[in-house]
Amino acid sequence: MTCAERITVFDTTLRDGEQSPGCSMNLEEKVRLARRIESLGVDVIEAGFPIASEGDFAAVRAVAAECRQVTVAALCRTTGADVIRAWEAVRGAARPRLHTFVATSDIHLEHKLRKTRREVLEMTRESVRLARTLTADVEFSAEDATRSDVDFLCEVLEAAAGAGATTLNIPDTVGYTTPMEFAQLIRLVRERVVRESGVVVSVHCHNDLGLAVANSLAAIEAGARQVECTINGIGERAGNAALEEVVMALRVRSDRLPYACGVDTGQIYPTSQLLSEIIGFGVQPNKAIVGRNAFAHEAGIHQHGVLSNPLCYEIMTPESVGVPTNRIVLGKHSGRHALAQRYAELGHALAGAELNDVYASFTELADRKKRIYDQDLLSLLVPEAAPPAEVFVAGRGRAAEFRSAGLQLAGS
Ligand code: KIV
Ligand code: ZN
Repeated sequence: MTCAERITVFDTTLRDGEQSPGCSMNLEEKVRLARRIESLGVDVIEAGFPIASEGDFAAVRAVAAECRQVTVAALCRTTGADVIRAWEAVRGAARPRLHTFVATSDIHLEHKLRKTRREVLEMTRESVRLARTLTADVEFSAEDATRSDVDFLCEVLEAAAGAGATTLNIPDTVGYTTPMEFAQLIRLVRERVVRESGVVVSVHCHNDLGLAVANSLAAIEAGARQVECTINGIGERAGNAALEEVVMALRVRSDRLPYACGVDTGQIYPTSQLLSEIIGFGVQPNKAIVGRNAFAHEAGIHQHGVLSNPLCYEIMTPESVGVPTNRIVLGKHSGRHALAQRYAELGHALAGAELNDVYASFTELADRKKRIYDQDLLSLLVPEAAPPAEVFVAGRGRAAEFRSAGLQLAGS
């Protein structure tokens, strides 16, 4: 049996993720989240951009002191002052990494940096050299790599590797590339720059076209061995590649993607929930892996299938990502099997004519209500125990009463 190649998971929720609007966190929140991300099993936590603010500096220092099982990275531009500041923040880490970056696309050189290609080459060499005098673990990123002239990109990466960078990161900064194009670029960088050197090729994809995860996976197939991502896919603009999606794609499709990583997938959902709680907003309901509906089945035919054998409609179990239980959502598309199952869970075994009768009332109610709660189901069973008509009119087989009452029920 061949051993699956190991992918380094680099989490940048606290740096790129935190840069997205509405996602800022205070120091205590960053440390709490960092601890959780560490126990999730990532390899690297990028804790911040120390020269950006006193807060970022303090957060990187605190995470470095707190998270001893992972590499902690600090971001810096390619200037001496940036590198030194980042080092001051991260030096206390058990495994510190300096991550220095400069843009390589002409549009960034001309309009943002106002530097020539020669100057960018020199800045790259000097900052990587300086970083290497401080730590053996140095990552270099060529910002906007996917819109850069390929020859110049390779020249800069070559300069970084020559100066001692141990990881070369190829960011799709503006989420512009496509999977096949990106895979081609990664292969080219490996052939022209990395060769047998042992330098790790990394990717960092943004999601502007909704392709961040697909691009990251294509890059892994093409030889990238570090993937940069964030919990819930938060990050600049449309976000970064979502860690949970990349990791679960590797796990569920290990037949096509035979790569291993250290993430304990059972921690994914609790980590996603903690992030949502801290930043004050969750993911969209249909978000892959961690969305509220990711494991919910409403259509009757799907519910029947899932109850008989989850593999009918689920390619992974909710438990495998730490979702407590499979949530069958009862609604107007639900079938008798799902309804009977929920009643059984509530302690009522229904079958035959009795089930048909309740099912008829249920579909009438479901036509009027978006969500059906257990209380609704129990009211359908026991008409005499139902609340007064002005609050709730329901009962076994009493569909007409729903219509005549014209009630809009709580949660409808
Ligand atoms: O998107 C990007 O290019 C970045 C770099 C700093 C790695 O976030
Ligand atoms: Zn980024």
